Parts: sequence; structure tokens; C-alpha cells
Amino acid sequence: MTSESVEPTTGPARRTVIAAAGAAGLTVALTACGSDDGDGGGSETSAGTVLGRTSEVPEGGGKVFGDAKVVVTQPTAGEFKAFSAICTHQRCTVKDIANDTITCPCHGSQFSATDGSVKKGPATRALPTAKITVEGDTITLA
Ligand code: FES
Repeated sequence: MTSESVEPTTGPARRTVIAAAGAAGLTVALTACGSDDGDGGGSETSAGTVLGRTSEVPEGGGKVFGDAKVVVTQPTAGEFKAFSAICTHQRCTVKDIANDTITCPCHGSQFSATDGSVKKGPATRALPTAKITVEGDTITLA
């Protein structure tokens, strides 16, 4: 028959290992001019927030919704795009939108109003896309 004493002699003892993932808290604080800040999030806006009406966003231009820190543009008629309004250089709020260009007033960085890409430094990273839905003439954060 079988032995009463079963003692595993190989391998680790069977036990529960709790793997604490820990916060992914690697913050890279770079302050040098022109550096990326490594912060892809931080938006304080919430889904479902109504930003405004499409009539507030001129064709070929855009509008900064300051409370939500979102800039909405209309590159071509009926096509709306939205980006974070926080400049990727040193986090000023972008201001002027004209001729397919979003301009930051602090150091003059310019971004494409179509895809948020950098047109002119010192910023080196594109404005992150913001998700919106347009229903009728109402623009809402998605
Ligand atoms: S914060 Fe420096 S260009 Fe926008």
C-alpha cells in the first residue's frame, strides 16, 4: 500500500504567492527645455461631459474648451477632431487655432489641428488625442 508520509523532496513548497504589482510609479521628471514630460494622462475631464456645440468650432479653426482642457478643431466641414489642450512642452494651455494650426502662447509651439502632431517646437510630442462624440450639434467627451 501507500506510505503515510508523503514528503515532496523537489520543488518549492506549495503556497500562495501574492505578487503585489505595485504602482507603476516611475515618474521621470525632466525639466530641460524641449524634453518630453512622459506624462500621457492626467486629464481631469470625464466621459459624458458636454463640451459645447459644433457651431462654436469654426471650420478650418477650432476652440479651446478651457474647463475640460480639450481643444476641438474642424479641419474640414463636418469633421471634428479633439486633442488635449495641454501643451506637451511645459503644460501651458494652447490658445489660438487658425489655418490648421494650434498655437501655444507660452513658447510658440505649434501643432497640427488635424492630427495634433508638432509643426513647430520647442514641443517635441504631439498633443494627445481626446475622444469626443458629436451628436446633432452637441460635442461630448467620449
Ligand atoms: S509650454 Fe512651451 S510652447 Fe507650450
